[in-house]
Amino acid sequence: MPTFFFFFITIFLVFSSSVLSLNPEIESLLSLANSFTLPNSSHLNWNSSSSSTPCQWEGIECDNNHRVISLNLSGYEISGQFGPEIGQLSFIKTIDFGFNNLSGSIPNEITNCTQLEYLDFSTNSLTGKLPENLGNLRNLVYFSVFSNGLSGSIPSSLNCKNLTLLDLSCNHFSGEIPPGLGNCSRLSSLSAINNSLTGHIPPSFGLLSELSYLYISENRLSGRIPRELGKCRSLTSLFLNSNHLEGEIPSELGMLSKLSTLQLHENSLSGEIPIGIWKIQSLAALEVYNNSLSGELPVEITELKHLKNISLFRNHFSGVIPQTLGINSSLEKLDFTHNTFSGEIPPNLCYGKQLSLLMLGSNRLHGSIPSDVGNCSTLERLRLGQNNLTGFIPNFVSNSNLNFMDISDTNIEGPIPSSLGNCLNLGSINLSSNKLTGPIPAELGNLVELQTLDLSGNQIHGSLPSEISKLVKLYSLNIGFNSLNGTIPSSLRSLKQLSTLILSENQFTGDIPNFLPELERLLELQLGGNQLRGNIPSSLGQVKSLTYVLNLRGNGLTGQLPPELEGLSMLQRLDISRNNLTGSLEALGKLNSLIQVNVSHNLFQGPIPASLLKLSNSSFIGNPGLCAPPCKQLL
Ligand SMILES: *[C@@H]1O[C@H](CO)[C@@H](O)[C@H](O)[C@H]1NC(C)=O
Ligand SMILES: *[C@@H]1O[C@H](CO)[C@@H](O)[C@H](O)[C@H]1NC(C)=O
Ligand SMILES: *[C@@H]1O[C@H](CO)[C@@H](O)[C@H](O)[C@H]1NC(C)=O
Ligand SMILES: *[C@@H]1O[C@H](CO)[C@@H](O)[C@H](O)[C@H]1NC(C)=O
Ligand SMILES: *[C@@H]1O[C@H](CO)[C@@H](O)[C@H](O)[C@H]1NC(C)=O
Ligand SMILES: *[C@@H]1O[C@H](CO)[C@@H](O)[C@H](O)[C@H]1NC(C)=O
Ligand SMILES: *[C@@H]1O[C@H](CO)[C@@H](O)[C@H](O)[C@H]1NC(C)=O
Ligand SMILES: *[C@@H]1O[C@H](CO)[C@@H](O)[C@H](O)[C@H]1NC(C)=O
Ligand SMILES: *[C@@H]1O[C@H](CO)[C@@H](O)[C@H](O)[C@H]1NC(C)=O
Ligand SMILES: *[C@@H]1O[C@H](CO)[C@@H](O)[C@H](O)[C@H]1NC(C)=O
Ligand SMILES: *[C@@H]1O[C@H](CO)[C@@H](O)[C@H](O)[C@H]1NC(C)=O
Ligand SMILES: *[C@@H]1O[C@H](CO)[C@@H](O)[C@H](O)[C@H]1NC(C)=O
Repeated sequence: MPTFFFFFITIFLVFSSSVLSLNPEIESLLSLANSFTLPNSSHLNWNSSSSSTPCQWEGIECDNNHRVISLNLSGYEISGQFGPEIGQLSFIKTIDFGFNNLSGSIPNEITNCTQLEYLDFSTNSLTGKLPENLGNLRNLVYFSVFSNGLSGSIPSSLNCKNLTLLDLSCNHFSGEIPPGLGNCSRLSSLSAINNSLTGHIPPSFGLLSELSYLYISENRLSGRIPRELGKCRSLTSLFLNSNHLEGEIPSELGMLSKLSTLQLHENSLSGEIPIGIWKIQSLAALEVYNNSLSGELPVEITELKHLKNISLFRNHFSGVIPQTLGINSSLEKLDFTHNTFSGEIPPNLCYGKQLSLLMLGSNRLHGSIPSDVGNCSTLERLRLGQNNLTGFIPNFVSNSNLNFMDISDTNIEGPIPSSLGNCLNLGSINLSSNKLTGPIPAELGNLVELQTLDLSGNQIHGSLPSEISKLVKLYSLNIGFNSLNGTIPSSLRSLKQLSTLILSENQFTGDIPNFLPELERLLELQLGGNQLRGNIPSSLGQVKSLTYVLNLRGNGLTGQLPPELEGLSMLQRLDISRNNLTGSLEALGKLNSLIQVNVSHNLFQGPIPASLLKLSNSSFIGNPGLCAPPCKQLL
């Protein structure tokens, strides 16, 4: 299809030997352009019969002597190859071909353009190696091949006396970083993110006193972070994340007094964060997640006025989080999950009214949830679960940002505040495994974006409010292990997206409702441990989507299994144990997907279907009338 949109630009070349002899650059440019393809909506106005110099042509600039010094066709959507003819433009200083679709390799002849200062091939589809003789380009100031498919090693011959920017990111470069780059003393930005570089970070980088940005994340660099990096006093951004770096963070990094962003996450770093780093007043973002770092957070962290993002998750940090954290800064993202912090949640994390992410789950925090959390209207994601928090869930102010809430598996008590209904964009609520009491507030019905609701394992009572029927995007509803009562409301039939419905271990009464076949995406249905009565309705056999679990155990169900149950052909696990069901198990004989079945402690009779015999004997016990074929002996 793409070729459909392209055509070769037509070259309006009227051979006039006088023009060519006067200006060989015209010939070189036209020859270069010959292998370009532009989208058919555009073409270059490169026309040799209209002028004796190319200086008026699109994308070309000349010096006073009509010699081409700049070729800028960035963003022209040019595809095709970049030819060797470029080597004949011996006065050219600027080549900007960024944001095109060039393929093939960068021609070696480009190193004949010894006046080149600016070379940009970023965001193309170039492949192959960089030219060997890059060192010929003694005047190079800016060199970017960001986002291509280039490979091979970084040439150690790079002549870089004048180089201020080198961007090799998002290619397939491999091998080690040449230590000689440390002699590129004017470098202010060095990027090689997302390549396959190996070996150590060269200590010679310590010579780069003008370096502001060092981005070498997402490679396979190993060894320690060299302490010499502490001499790069101009550094504002240091990205070493997603490598195989190990050992401690050198204390010398604390001398980087201009540092604003430090990203060391996803390495194998250990030890403590040097105190000097916590004293860098310009620090705005510190991301060290997924390492093996330890130690406590010093009080200095509370004085970092510019601190916005701090991500420490999946480490071994411990101790109390300094309680004044947040008062002197405008925190935006704080993620401390999966550490061993103790003490209480600082009461003013949202003080700067910018906090969007607050993740403190899976620690050892105690005390109550500060009211600041509920008042934080900028909050988008909140995770406090898996701690030892006590007290009540705070009231939540109107907050259309909050999307995710996990306060599960801690020790909070009291009612579910009806103010949760103020957070209209909540997509996921998990309050499971707490000591919550009281009813499910009808206001939860306002949360029309809700997709998962887990209130299981609390002491919630009362009936399921009919407002729940407004949660039409809900695909997982788990209210098991509570004290809910009343009948299973027919309003649940409007939850057409439901794939998981867990009402087990409550005090629901009445019959198994007949509307369940309307929930066409239901994969898991758990109604066990209630006080449901009556027969298993034949309609249950029409819930054909049921795959993972059908659990009706421990109710007061009576009567025979309806033959229609054989419609549950995808069902893998069935538990109808501990009821008063009678008759034969014949209806189960055709459920070929079953890998687990439990019909124990009922009043079933007759032979166990042959297809179920492979399953454990304990699946059938407590049914004095059942027998295994040839049925000489009862179980
Ligand atoms: C490109 O050319 C083809 C046929 O030559 C034509 O069908 C198509 O509409 C053109 N596309 C544009 C964007 O002009
Ligand atoms: C090229 O220039 C000649 C002379 O000025 C003109 O006649 C011709 O139309 C031009 N062609 C294009 C495609 O601009
Ligand atoms: C090339 O042209 C683009 C768009 O006209 C411009 O944004 C860019 O700065 C130019 N490149 C150089 C090196 O001047
Ligand atoms: C580049 O320069 C070398 C000599 O340094 C010369 O042999 C070669 O022909 C030149 N290539 C081009 C394309 O100009
Ligand atoms: C880029 O060029 C490749 C071929 O080299 C082609 O398959 C692809 O469609 C082009 N993409 C665009 C956006 O022109
Ligand atoms: C490169 O640096 C030298 C001195 O080191 C200087 O004379 C020359 O002008 C610089 N070139 C550019 C393009 O900045
Ligand atoms: C840096 O340059 C100096 C002087 O030219 C040289 O002695 C040294 O070997 C170079 N360092 C590296 C790491 O290449
Ligand atoms: C890294 O580069 C590969 C292609 O080389 C690309 O598929 C991937 O998305 C990049 N990863 C990131 C995080 O940019
Ligand atoms: C962190 O590491 C864990 C394994 O230790 C991995 O599963 C997870 O994807 C990593 N997280 C991130 C965000 O990289
Ligand atoms: C959690 O807190 C309760 C009450 O404060 C205490 O009894 C219990 O030991 C704590 N559990 C853990 C794991 O710290
Ligand atoms: C449900 O339980 C509540 C107490 O939690 C009780 O007041 C109410 O009568 C019960 N309703 C039914 C239908 O049993
Ligand atoms: C089964 O029926 C018997 C006799 O009616 C009754 O005692 C028992 O409680 C019932 N079992 C269940 C689980 O309902």
